[in-house]
Amino acid sequence: MVKLLIHGPNRLAGELNVHGAKNSTLPLMAAALLCRSECVLHNCPHLSDVDVSARILRHLGCAVTWQGGSLVIDPRCVTQCDIPDGLMREMRSSIVFLGAILSRAGRAVLSFPGGCELGPRPIDLHLQALRKMGAKIVEDYGCLSCSTEGPLHGAAIGLSFPSVGATENIMLAGVLAEGTTVITNAAREPEICDLADFLNRCGAKVSGAGGSTLVIEGVKRLYGCEHRVIPDRIAAATFMSAAAATGGCIRLNQIVPAHLEPVLPSFEELGCCIEMEESSLRISAPARLGRIKSVRTMPYPGFPTDAQAPLMAAACVGSGTSIFVENIFESRYKHVGELLRLGANIKVEGRVAVVEGVPRLSGAPVEAADLRGGAALVVAGLAARGATEVTGVRYMDRGYENLERSLSLLGADIRREYE
Ligand code: UD1
Repeated sequence: MVKLLIHGPNRLAGELNVHGAKNSTLPLMAAALLCRSECVLHNCPHLSDVDVSARILRHLGCAVTWQGGSLVIDPRCVTQCDIPDGLMREMRSSIVFLGAILSRAGRAVLSFPGGCELGPRPIDLHLQALRKMGAKIVEDYGCLSCSTEGPLHGAAIGLSFPSVGATENIMLAGVLAEGTTVITNAAREPEICDLADFLNRCGAKVSGAGGSTLVIEGVKRLYGCEHRVIPDRIAAATFMSAAAATGGCIRLNQIVPAHLEPVLPSFEELGCCIEMEESSLRISAPARLGRIKSVRTMPYPGFPTDAQAPLMAAACVGSGTSIFVENIFESRYKHVGELLRLGANIKVEGRVAVVEGVPRLSGAPVEAADLRGGAALVVAGLAARGATEVTGVRYMDRGYENLERSLSLLGADIRREYE
């Protein structure tokens, strides 16, 4: 078993470079499948989810190699069009490969992602859209068999919810489709803009990324390019939460300040002072945090659901009552029970969590049940008095590159132990 052992509290100080965004890297790797020559993705984080995506690409026939922090993907020898069940189960978001495989091979066979740590993970919006673009999809015994007769065609697609994954899948299916695809109520996340930038650099015609209407004019072919993955805004928000929870003062480099705007008001409400520069920020927290009137998770540019848990961990040691409303995923409060073990005072009623700040947390053994919930336990452990042992480290390894090393650089007493 792998554990993170934390001895707290320790006030975080110093500076850190934020790694590339997991949620950009995965769709970019899928997009590389559509190209007729080599793609180089710079600033790729070394994460287990990225490894799973690399294994999927290799299974399909791509050559994938690391060169330092860059991934080199050669998609010229693709021979397969399926994703084995084992790989689908390791990473539910591998559904983002569907549009790219279908577009490239005219066929795709993968297992249904099913439920996950965050609750049910439907893909109805992905499937509806692909069907509208000419895909025939048969759902049988948890398996999805998709095929097309000839190339996919453009379509007008109105999403009932601005799903990030569905928007990405439609973009990947649409760039080489015949005609024009228009997505209304598209997701507006920075990772969508990053994907559009990459595809356009490869020769695609995608316009409107970052807005609610995306227009994709199909082109005949795409060629590989070099691209730098955007910084991970959720990792940045997690380190900001850790600084806030420990009364610390840190500087984060290699960020895009605009991407963090949705989270800044909450940190300011807690009493933190934030100074932005061109590609870095400095956050300094008071000795005792205040409270956040309310945090409502929303699609971008609203407060990101992925930052809810780490911020909640910081609010646990504030003074006063903070209210969280989770609007994106049904089951995203699994960290709450574990935060209670550390001495937090939180009540959950449906989508609402009410956090009564306490003066201090105390170390305890806790177990992560999902990626961002696990990060919240680490944030709380840094602020807690005494020893905290966090198990379920495999979840954190999905989204944070060497989390314990980053936090140690900032002065935390944290180490990984293998039993
Ligand atoms: C992506 C992110 C994830 C983030 C989430 C919301 C990646 C790899 N993951 O996940 O970290 O938390 O966006 O910002 O980028 N839904 C449906 N039907 C669908 C698709 C989605 O009902 O066909 C629902 C989901 O159940 C969920 C909501 O829409 O309640 C948001 O999901 P979506 O935006 O698709 O998230 P992901 O792309 O899975």
